[in-house]
Order: sequence, then structure tokens, then C-alpha cells
Amino acid sequence: MLFRPLKPEDAALYPDFLKEVTAEDLRLRFFAAMREVSHEMIDKLIHYDPAHAMAFIAIEEQSGRMLGVVRLHDDAGGKDAEFAILVRSRLKGHGLGWLMMKHMIAYAKEKGLQTVRGQVLAENSTMLTMCTELGFHSADDPGERGVKLVTLPLDEVPAEAAG
Ligand SMILES: CC(C)(COP(=O)(O)OP(=O)(O)OC[C@H]1O[C@@H](n2cnc3c(N)ncnc32)[C@H](O)[C@@H]1OP(=O)(O)O)[C@@H](O)C(=O)NCCC(=O)NCCS
Repeated sequence: MLFRPLKPEDAALYPDFLKEVTAEDLRLRFFAAMREVSHEMIDKLIHYDPAHAMAFIAIEEQSGRMLGVVRLHDDAGGKDAEFAILVRSRLKGHGLGWLMMKHMIAYAKEKGLQTVRGQVLAENSTMLTMCTELGFHSADDPGERGVKLVTLPLDEVPAEAAG
């Protein structure tokens, strides 16, 4: 498996990737029922501003297929950032999400950010358990019912454990 920053030309990998992401996983990621991700949405996901955001994709080296993606968008203040993650559905539960989260956390720490946070649907127990194991604190999102806000103060992450 190869892990590298997402490039605009990776737009070509998205249709094959999303074909193997279930409607339920899309809902857990985007918080809305959707049968497919529109071209406009893919365009927005691909063309992020590298000054304020970063996305990494996991690729199967042999086939060149996209296996997962994790992204991090800075807040306006530039000290905190919000993540989102999606793994090819048939690969769930094999450790890829964990690896991508560790990579994203290491990147955020290296960048000098203070906090990484994410919104997770309350029923998304896999993600909430994984976040707890990664050191995130979890609380109800005051802005949205049924949503948890997971927060990781990066000063609580030892530098050697971040990678
Ligand atoms: C949530 C998601 C990203 C998790 O990715 P994944 O590859 O399935 O997760 P992993 O296999 O790495 O981890 C899952 C399990 O292994 C554990 N785990 C994996 N690697 C581990 C490690 N090295 N050490 C300790 N625990 C580990 C996790 O805590 C979790 O435990 P469980 O299976 O007992 O519940 C994935 O399921 C997904 O894409 N879901 C749909 C989208 C979504 O929910 N996104 C999150 C909201 S932004």
C-alpha cells in the first residue's frame, strides 16, 4: 500500500473507489443519505487549497486502486483542523483507517497545529471507539443533535507515537 497526498489527477480514481463504498458508509461520512457522490462534490474534494487543507490517499500499489482517503481542513485561526475519513467498504476492519488516522495525526503535529477534531455520528461506534483508542476526547456536539465531537489536543500526543 502506498500513502501519499491527494493530487488533482486522482479524480480519475474516485469513481472506482466510490463504486465500492456503501450508501451507509457515505451517510456516515457525509451525514446525509446519498446514492452517489456528484461530480461537483468530487471536484471540491480534489481541488482543496493546499495552504489550508491536506488530504492523503491510500493506494494499492499493484493495481493502482484507491483504498481510502483522509483529509484535514484548517480552521480560520490556523491552529486547529477538522478531519474526515473514508475507507473502501470491503476493506473495513483491517487496520487501514487506524493507519490513516495515525498518519493524519502525525502530519497535524508536525505542522504545529494545536487540535484536531472531527464530527462523528453518535451511532458510528467503530469510529468513536477508534478515536477513543487514538486519544481523542468525545462529547456531544452542541450544534448538532446525534453528532459527537471528537477532539485530540496534539500536545497530548507524544512525538514518537505520532508516526
Ligand atoms: C470509520 C472507518 C474510517 C474506520 O476504518 P477501518 O479501516 O474500518 O478501521 P480499522 O480497521 O483501522 O479499525 C477498526 C478496528 O480496529 C481497531 N484497530 C485497528 N488498528 C489498531 C491498532 N493498531 N491498535 C489498536 N486498535 C486498532 C479499531 O479501534 C477498531 O476496533 P473494532 O474493529 O474492534 O471496532 C471506516 O469504517 C469508514 O470509512 N467508515 C465509513 C465512513 C466513516 O464513518 N467516517 C468517519 C466519520 S468522518
